[in-house]
Amino acid sequence: MTDLSISILPETPADDAAIERLVARTFGPGRYARTAFRLREGNPHRRDLSFTASIGTMLVGSVRLTPIFIGPAPALLLGPLTVEPPFRSHGIGRRLVERSLAAAKEAGAGLVLLVGDEPYYGRMGFRHVARGAVRLPGPVDPNRVLICPLDGRDVASVEGMVAPDRRAAVA
Ligand SMILES: CC(C)(COP(=O)(O)OP(=O)(O)OC[C@H]1O[C@@H](n2cnc3c(N)ncnc32)[C@H](O)[C@@H]1OP(=O)(O)O)[C@@H](O)C(=O)NCCC(=O)NCCS
Repeated sequence: MTDLSISILPETPADDAAIERLVARTFGPGRYARTAFRLREGNPHRRDLSFTASIGTMLVGSVRLTPIFIGPAPALLLGPLTVEPPFRSHGIGRRLVERSLAAAKEAGAGLVLLVGDEPYYGRMGFRHVARGAVRLPGPVDPNRVLICPLDGRDVASVEGMVAPDRRAAVA
């Protein structure tokens, strides 16, 4: 597979059903119990900052960003990130993350948080937070709470309770 065969495209409403199927296959019914899912519940993702990976007309990957607060600071939650198993290890996940981070930065976002593995996301600028400084509304392994500071701030200075930012949902 060459890079040229993969298109990273802004998400559209027409992608919703295929993304939901991909996420369901990847994470299964247990996804509803995940702390990150709770932050997304009733809290629409930013479609303008969410992207798909396609080969021809086939959707093979997706990443979404959703507005949250970390303490008083507006931020974005990255996830779910999913790539169809046969198409993994071709750089699609990385391209999706990098594209969404670039769009978030361009939109003026300062912080992107996710719950995931540092060995993977560290390559894309995500760092561990100070232990206990960032609290989520549910159980989560503190070693998997990672932040990418798009505005260059020191991750060690980020602290507070993470909560959904439902301002767009009620606007
Ligand atoms: C994680 C995921 C999106 C990566 O997609 P991808 O297109 O394969 O990613 P990339 O091609 O950019 O990177 C692949 C490399 O990262 C490694 N990698 C993948 N997940 C990793 C993890 N959790 N920790 C460390 N390394 C990881 C792969 O082994 C691979 O290494 P290689 O290049 O030496 O073969 C994909 O594996 C996936 O959909 N997994 C299931 C869902 C999931 O775990 N999502 C993330 C939730 S935090």
